Amino acid sequence: MLHGKLVQVIVLLLLVLFLLNDQLEGRYQWGRRFRTNRIISFLTEKTSSDIMHSTPKHPPKGYLSSKLASSARLGWKSKSSKKHERITANHIFELVSIYGISKTLHRKPAIFIEDSKYHSLVNGVRKVMPGLLNEFQIFDRPVFPEAKNELISQKCCVFDNPSKLENITSKYLHLTGHFYQSWRYFDQHLSEIKSFVKPLLDFSPLPESDENNFITCIHIRRTDFVDGQHHSSNVTFFKPALEFIQSRERERNGRKNMLTVLMGDDPNFEANIYENTVIADKRTEIKNAAEYFVSKNSPDNDLAFSRYHCDTVLITAPSSTFGWWLGYLSKRQNVYYQDIRSTNDVNYKKGELNPDDFFVPRWTSIKLDENGTIVVV
Ligand SMILES: *[C@@H]1O[C@H](CO)[C@@H](O)[C@H](O)[C@H]1NC(C)=O
Ligand SMILES: *[C@@H]1O[C@H](CO)[C@@H](O)[C@H](O)[C@H]1NC(C)=O
Ligand SMILES: *[C@@H]1O[C@H](CO)[C@@H](O)[C@H](O)[C@H]1NC(C)=O
Repeated sequence: MLHGKLVQVIVLLLLVLFLLNDQLEGRYQWGRRFRTNRIISFLTEKTSSDIMHSTPKHPPKGYLSSKLASSARLGWKSKSSKKHERITANHIFELVSIYGISKTLHRKPAIFIEDSKYHSLVNGVRKVMPGLLNEFQIFDRPVFPEAKNELISQKCCVFDNPSKLENITSKYLHLTGHFYQSWRYFDQHLSEIKSFVKPLLDFSPLPESDENNFITCIHIRRTDFVDGQHHSSNVTFFKPALEFIQSRERERNGRKNMLTVLMGDDPNFEANIYENTVIADKRTEIKNAAEYFVSKNSPDNDLAFSRYHCDTVLITAPSSTFGWWLGYLSKRQNVYYQDIRSTNDVNYKKGELNPDDFFVPRWTSIKLDENGTIVVV
């Protein structure tokens, strides 16, 4: 009698689980290959409500990975932290884009560790955005030979819509393009992306953004950008640009102290642009009246600083990816950049960079007009 009841209950339970599974399958269009796994996990895991809870909105159809090209191109030997800055920013672009594309394609983002450079790459990005790496499945081996290879993003900074890969059913989809430098790959996930940045830390003696202080961060890129290829930071532009931004922001921010933090690859140059600039070493004593600060932080801490303290960002070398990420992660998305169409940037001239794909539309493009006045374009 009791035995019969138990059998009845078990049969009923199984029926419910199968129905539940079917319903979910209809709703989320799971691939056939995953269905059996799902049923097995329904039956083997503790309670079905646990599973319901942990079921992602769009369960992955398989994995999405990519060749990570910039390590190969730029090499990893350099000890210079500023070269590191550029490499890290390029890798942040690659990994955040893979993350965004994987969401579009309902796949799980993955990294295949092809060689030791990939380890350094992952660790470099983890220093800035530890949360991002938690989203990835990391395979400590080269990509599987049966992976389906697809080429998208042949130009660094021209968007190539990944939706065309939506019907591929292979478990491993591996992209063979590179750079993926466009906001269009991931901008719908901005708030998650910002939440991936490492937690707030003590940045003193740099000033903090709060009810009294309004902080403008300027990114300055000179050393390796003075190469005739990229447009490097130019005082003729950025001094009037900073005045322009500060007078605009002062109107909106009333009584706050307008403070400026310069970040970049040439601290000696940066320290000599404005009088009484504080070079923000840990040992530095700050006098009350200081308005200009040069960051001596590592590139990853500059990015974290921007997330928590840059009320506005001015990008003065418009094709610098490090400047781009300072803007994108910044506290309020209040970003100004030098109009790249008014420069001789080679990537732009060659058609490798489409300004509408590269620069986020909510940012403000400014330039010097023929009379030396800053105008919004
Ligand atoms: C994918 O399949 C759907 C349904 O068959 C179809 O409507 C869509 O156009 C396909 N997408 C591509 C990029 O082929
Ligand atoms: C800076 O910009 C000014 C005005 O556009 C230009 O005349 C000058 O050559 C530039 N300087 C450098 C180092 O590119
Ligand atoms: C520059 O100044 C001249 C003389 O004042 C004026 O005629 C011209 O319209 C100005 N150009 C721009 C772009 O404002």
